[in-house]
Amino acid sequence: MTIERTFSIVKPDAVERNLIGAIYQRIESAGLKIIAAKMVHLSEDKAKGFYAEHEGKPFYDDLVAFMTSGPVMVQVLEGENAIARYRELMGKTNPEEAACGTLRADYAQSMRLNSVHGSDSPVSAAREIAYFFAEDEICPR
Ligand code: TYD
Ligand code: MG
Repeated sequence: MTIERTFSIVKPDAVERNLIGAIYQRIESAGLKIIAAKMVHLSEDKAKGFYAEHEGKPFYDDLVAFMTSGPVMVQVLEGENAIARYRELMGKTNPEEAACGTLRADYAQSMRLNSVHGSDSPVSAAREIAYFFAEDEICPR
């Protein structure tokens, strides 16, 4: 049994449509614990740094513009195999390919406006958590 932490964002399209509670409900129902959370409006620099791995790709500028278009909720989730399990709960990047019952199948509006983010590996999770949260803002239980 591996207890992991992963990093999650409720993106601007979902915050704008009052979907924070619905998404938190689905996270908690899946057995993942929210052990840190806050609302932030990302600056351009903060969004660019977060998505640095995608710099230079054709969708990068639009992605940064979208992620800075309104507030987001950022969370740390904890649970057994949390990284893979939360990726499963989210569904594929493109909502047209996301499995039925996943967050993106149910809530995403397009490939870009896809409602949620989740870390893709232990290395990404550690980087992304530290990018938003100090250790004393995380409340494991
Ligand atoms: P990526 O890390 O590949 O996807 P995921 O969020 O599933 O880990 O891409 C980051 C975000 O960039 C993705 O959530 C939506 C956006 N994006 C596009 O707008 N167009 C694209 O072709 C891709 C691959 C991603
Ligand atoms: Mg990714």
